[in-house]
Amino acid sequence: MLAIRRESLSMHDPEILNSIRSLILSKPDATSLLAEVVSLLHRERPHYHWVGVYLLVGGELVLGPYVGKPTIHTRIPLHQGICGAAASTGQTLIVDDVNADPRYLACSLETRSEIVVPIQHQGRVLGEIDIDSDQPAAFTPHDRDLLEAVAALLAEKI
Ligand code: SME
Repeated sequence: MLAIRRESLSMHDPEILNSIRSLILSKPDATSLLAEVVSLLHRERPHYHWVGVYLLVGGELVLGPYVGKPTIHTRIPLHQGICGAAASTGQTLIVDDVNADPRYLACSLETRSEIVVPIQHQGRVLGEIDIDSDQPAAFTPHDRDLLEAVAALLAEKI
């Protein structure tokens, strides 16, 4: 009952995207924009337990704003992790069971599934949105569509 009520109170995808469009206009710099966007996604989607953005800096993924438990993976080379695989291919990756994926770099023992969505501009990867869930197979094509739209908006600003 509580879950249904929470879902009905959550923003729908178009509202989330409109809020991000407003933030792009109002936030003075990329870091404050990204901080607001990760908080918004974390708040509006209860199955997003850890939400962060990595930026590609000097050929390495560097952790930017995030919401959730601190992680030891603050810098990830492109050949490591699910994050590295998504950034090096430019493709969204959904992993239904992180413990069954040999690429997975663990951040938290509770994490069961993960989605990583590259942020790209004119075919160049600038960074990525990384989201972990404590639920197995938490991410659907619906999440992919939303987060790819969010990534396209962020690519204009970072
Ligand atoms: N699990 C990621 C590392 C980042 S943490 O999830 C925050 C990976 O396998 O690349």
